[in-house]
Amino acid sequence: MARKEELIEGLNEDLAAEWGTVIRYTYQSAKAFGLAGEELREILQEEVQDELGHATFLTDVIIDLGGEPVTEPKSFQKPEGLKAMLELDLQMEKGDVDNYMAHSNMADELGLVELKMKLEEMAADEAGHARQLRRLIRGL
Ligand SMILES: [Fe+2]
Ligand SMILES: [Fe+2]
Repeated sequence: MARKEELIEGLNEDLAAEWGTVIRYTYQSAKAFGLAGEELREILQEEVQDELGHATFLTDVIIDLGGEPVTEPKSFQKPEGLKAMLELDLQMEKGDVDNYMAHSNMADELGLVELKMKLEEMAADEAGHARQLRRLIRGL
């Protein structure tokens, strides 16, 4: 597979993950009960906006690169209870950081400077989400 096709495929995996996260956070915010749950609702609903921005950017970029963006979300687990939810989210955010960094390196190799930097920025967003989740988990 050519390098560009490989990048498009990787970005489509990222996109499916973003759509999955938008749905997962919306779903989890509805299932977050109690005092800590209220706080989690606020945070997740705010983070959904970031993930939606990531999904929008990836959709545009995949089309720019000549690919066909996915519209199906990646499926996700639905653990019960705040702590299990947050631990899943933390694990997923960390995976997103790694994927964006890997694809940023691919974009760099292809000389796609803007894409490289945007993917790094998105990796930083996800790392920020992970940091916030870690703080929440510590308090549970
Ligand atoms: Fe994201
Ligand atoms: Fe995130």
